[in-house]
Amino acid sequence: MTFPLVRMRRLRKTEALRRLVAETVLDPGDFIYPMFVCPGQDVCQPIGSMPGVNRYSIDALVEECRKVADLGVPGVILFGIPEKKDALGTEGYSPNGIIARAVRAVKKALPGLIVICDVCLCEYTSHGHCGVLDKGRVHNDATLELLAKAAVTYAKAGCDIVAPSDMMDGRVIEIREGLDEAGLEETPILSYAAKYASAFYGPFREAADSAPQEGDRKGYQMDPPNFREAMREVALDVEEGADMLMVKPALPYLDVLAAVRAEYDHPLAAYQVSGEFAMIKAAGQMGWVDEERVVLESLTAIKRAGADFILTYFALDAARLLGGRA
Ligand code: PBG
Repeated sequence: MTFPLVRMRRLRKTEALRRLVAETVLDPGDFIYPMFVCPGQDVCQPIGSMPGVNRYSIDALVEECRKVADLGVPGVILFGIPEKKDALGTEGYSPNGIIARAVRAVKKALPGLIVICDVCLCEYTSHGHCGVLDKGRVHNDATLELLAKAAVTYAKAGCDIVAPSDMMDGRVIEIREGLDEAGLEETPILSYAAKYASAFYGPFREAADSAPQEGDRKGYQMDPPNFREAMREVALDVEEGADMLMVKPALPYLDVLAAVRAEYDHPLAAYQVSGEFAMIKAAGQMGWVDEERVVLESLTAIKRAGADFILTYFALDAARLLGGRA
């Protein structure tokens, strides 16, 4: 059957018809809100390249998390700015480090809010790399132990999910074993399975003050031209026991996202990263695009491609646009 019997426009005629046949529907429950936590009291410090996103001290973070929950957004992922950085990223895994304390405070005030902890050393190392340096290179195996320590620290503090983002080989199994040995076998791992060495992380590194002092992350994060390699990375993390998978960044890597969706039944996340956020914000502020519509369209596209949930700095804005309560 074809034209004139078939007319695709019939079902596009009204808003109600379009809603009826929409294949992908966004919901505030699809989002995880990334948040930055810093030392101090009553701090709410704007991040220049991420308008509307702030660094919060723990007390202010808890208050902001109440808004997250009130909007129907199910959870947050936390990134820490430590008091002090050192070569081994000690504050990343110390039980009194910024993240461990933040997790305890948020879970105490809002036990129902999902708290995910990013597991990586780059925010805590003086050199800004995601692991321990050995002759200027990140030493894979020496880093694993510290990542597992960080995961155990966060899980003990009460976080719901640990999410390794460092891209060391073997980190998922090392973290799984560390958690299990500590009696934390119930804590799930959300693996940043296919994470690319992307220029779209620029604003995040301002926010977390985590740009490498020397060199870049291309020795451990994936090379943007590679697709088949992403499938191998995902397969390895699945074998090592990842409970959930992530592709990052989101919009420039929808092909990878769709392929992982097609091949795996694990819950799948996508991270709409800081640079994706900043570009939409900037163009919106210039009046060059309609920010609200671009936000919802980009999130819809990420969900359509296969994400079960999306880590996005637009989580609160999008939840409001979708009719969330607060
Ligand atoms: C830590 C980490 C980064 C991001 C998430 N976890 C930075 C990086 O890898 O350089 C980036 C998130 C974003 O850009 O929004 N390794």
